[in-house]
Amino acid sequence: MRTILVMNAKGGSGKSTLCTNIASYFASEEQAKVFIEDYDQQGSSSDWLKVRPSQFPEINGILSWKTSKRAPKNTDYVIMDAPAGVQNRDMGKIIRRAQTIIMPVLPSPMDIRAAARFIQDILLIGRVSQDQIKVGVVANRVKEHTLIYHQLEKFLERLNFSFIGKLRDSQAYVRSAEKGIGVHEMPPSTVYEDLEQWESVINWLKSKRSQPK
Ligand SMILES: Nc1ncnc2c1ncn2[C@@H]1O[C@H](COP(=O)(O)OP(=O)(O)OP(=O)(O)O)[C@@H](O)[C@H]1O
Ligand SMILES: [Mg+2]
Repeated sequence: MRTILVMNAKGGSGKSTLCTNIASYFASEEQAKVFIEDYDQQGSSSDWLKVRPSQFPEINGILSWKTSKRAPKNTDYVIMDAPAGVQNRDMGKIIRRAQTIIMPVLPSPMDIRAAARFIQDILLIGRVSQDQIKVGVVANRVKEHTLIYHQLEKFLERLNFSFIGKLRDSQAYVRSAEKGIGVHEMPPSTVYEDLEQWESVINWLKSKRSQPK
């Protein structure tokens, strides 16, 4: 069982978007048994599951903030959606089961500052600092050739964590979320640029670099 947590203290950075797209990738492209643990009371990932059409590979999930039940043992990938604003003590609880953390960061001064603080916080967690949990950061809603994106890129490159990819600001994420699917399940001709950008994120997730030794 592989456990991937999507987390950033900042609201609206794309946690649920990444969570649902990673889940749909593994379900659709790898025919894997995927389960979403939704730790956010807003329940965005759970809402996405509710509207998921039955002709797409099944993904199950649970509102994990409501129950102590967890993904069934035969699950291949557990994707965990963290809430915004999660801090020190609660962070430990959610991180406990994670092997890998994916952290989306938006190109905005406030998001960059918040990410810097959040990274300091998670580095205080023993399993992160000892490399028992691997952290990958993703620049999300990128508009290339903007000054703020270059600032974000510089910031992410300087981190001790892997900078694993960038996802452009694209209506494909809004449209697919509405339908309960991921970009990998959209007609490829409409999302080829997005699929290309996902390659580095997926390659990292499949590589040993994203898994604890
Ligand atoms: N790359 C993208 N391009 C366009 N829209 C995006 C992108 N990523 C996320 N969004 C949109 O931005 C909004 C916030 O994204 P999302 O809900 O994934 O963030 P979040 O971090 O889960 O938010 P919260 O902290 O409230 O849980 C959503 O409307 C989503 O559709
Ligand atoms: Mg969310």
